Amino acid sequence: MKYRHIYHAGNFADVHKHITLLALLRSLARKEKGFLFLDTHAGRGLYDLSGSEARKSEESNTGIIKIISALTPPSTDSISTVNSSTLPEEIKNYLTVVRNTRKESHSRNAYPGSPIFVLQSMRNQDRAVFIESQHIEHKALLETVRKQPHVTVECADGYERLKTWLPPLERRALVLIDPPYEDSQVDFKKTIVASAEILGRLPNAIIALWFPIKHERDSQYWINQLANTIAKPLLVSELWRHPRDNRVGLNGGGLIIINPPFQFSDRMRVWLPILHAALDPSPSQGGYEVRLLGVR
Ligand SMILES: C[S@@+](CC[C@H](N)C(=O)[O-])C[C@H]1O[C@@H](n2cnc3c(N)ncnc32)[C@H](O)[C@@H]1O
Repeated sequence: MKYRHIYHAGNFADVHKHITLLALLRSLARKEKGFLFLDTHAGRGLYDLSGSEARKSEESNTGIIKIISALTPPSTDSISTVNSSTLPEEIKNYLTVVRNTRKESHSRNAYPGSPIFVLQSMRNQDRAVFIESQHIEHKALLETVRKQPHVTVECADGYERLKTWLPPLERRALVLIDPPYEDSQVDFKKTIVASAEILGRLPNAIIALWFPIKHERDSQYWINQLANTIAKPLLVSELWRHPRDNRVGLNGGGLIIINPPFQFSDRMRVWLPILHAALDPSPSQGGYEVRLLGVR
């Protein structure tokens, strides 16, 4: 596998995903009862945006760097000077995690991966399992997570480990499925099988499933297949920077939420336009959409 998430860390799709993830974690924590968080494709947990790979790809310029410069006074491009007083709480919470991560790692170029968003949200009664298949990434993840209580890190195939971890004793779970889509068709198929497996084991599991928008027809075909297979309403949230059927590569990214928490889509309709405006302030070819599929 050639995929290294460091080339993409902090890009617009990561920001959209991480704000959504954090909002889901906060929703689950509204109930006292603990839950299991399962990250099937966890990555290394912490990324250095000043390293040669991230500088080469410059992808964080489309995401975290762009937000910070959109929300700070001119020439003070630092997360500590972001004026967040008028921002929706979902974006504020996200920026707080990024700020804390930078403080703890003594680096203004650090960017948190999904495991850090989880670690900063977990309560004593919650558990987390992070699965990463690449040895180098897994080793770095162990270093990031460092023997936190109630956390398990595995070097394995995240799709295959679903059977082991589900259903959890708590009977409450949030599963993030965030594969690389190096071969898009393979991951599209695997995510449908995985979603059906999860719901077969725990029908009320909340699933957050990230997907790329490279070719509009492919992603919409996959969404319809997923909806038909699992026969449950889906919340689809999409954010794109280029026309959705452009051939530039990654035009946009989306998240499917299965079993979304109560009023989650209403909140998304509040913060997504604000995020989009911060990421793509000039009238351009980008856009966003939040829709519920399969609701009768
Ligand atoms: C998109 S990145 C994950 C990013 C991470 N979830 C985040 O938000 O920070 C995908 C990761 O999945 C890993 N991976 C690829 N195939 C896998 C598999 N079958 N099981 C577990 N991890 C896998 C890759 O090495 C890569 O680190």
